[in-house]
Amino acid sequence: MNRKLLMALFSIMLMSVLAACGGSDKAGDDSETPADAGGEKDVYTVATDNGYVPFEYIDEDSGELVGFDIDLITAVAEEAGVEIEFETLDFDGIVAGIGSGRFDIAIAGMTITEERQESIDFTQPYYEAGLILAVKEGNDDIKSIEDVEGKTVATRTGSTSQEYLTANTEAKIEAFPGIIEAYQNVLAGRADAVLYDLPNVQFYSETEADNELKTVGEKLTGEDYGIAFPKGSELRDDFDEALTTLKENGTYDDIYKEWFGEAPKEK
Ligand code: ARG
Repeated sequence: MNRKLLMALFSIMLMSVLAACGGSDKAGDDSETPADAGGEKDVYTVATDNGYVPFEYIDEDSGELVGFDIDLITAVAEEAGVEIEFETLDFDGIVAGIGSGRFDIAIAGMTITEERQESIDFTQPYYEAGLILAVKEGNDDIKSIEDVEGKTVATRTGSTSQEYLTANTEAKIEAFPGIIEAYQNVLAGRADAVLYDLPNVQFYSETEADNELKTVGEKLTGEDYGIAFPKGSELRDDFDEALTTLKENGTYDDIYKEWFGEAPKEK
């Protein structure tokens, strides 16, 4: 669908919603074009992480911030006609900072959850992940999430994994500000298992842990990642639309292949 048609449809929808709400003269203001929507700033700040392979991390050789999220948000911002700059911080700081409006945009493998949606607006999903349990190679005690009662399970502070462990298990939870510490604790035998997002566990195990970290059991929960904005941000619709365009024109698939080696599965 082309952009004009989409905007027209959107305005019609918006007007009927406003009409249904008893009317407001605000509908007249919504004719702005995507390029200038919310465009008071020259450069928008994107909050992200620097230790979440392969989505956003510092490349050891170049010292540059790289990853799937970085390439994706760069392409999406370009498509939306918006300039961005990155600021990196701990994941729980990203979630808090985007909710409070300290940052304009956040991309950090952030799962769209109902709780977060109270303070954050997300785009459509851009990646489908899920949580997976992993143990050190050779550990045959823990074969699935059913076996973690009384065991020490490491994860990252403020993540959906931490929430999952709290809500669904009787494990002793050890949450770290950076996930790499969690992995290292498992590899060193100080924690029995780690629960985290599947693509990160797999990538870390293959590239950093000599496959010494082994996933066990089924993938738990569906986790859709979305690009995040403070509630009510005018950038959200532009970015969502740009994301749709990149999914349609093959750019999204190219970036996906570059980082995951294969094209995304059709849903
Ligand atoms: N998907 C999980 C969540 O949203 C973990 C994300 C961690 N991302 C990161 N950049 N550290 O809670």
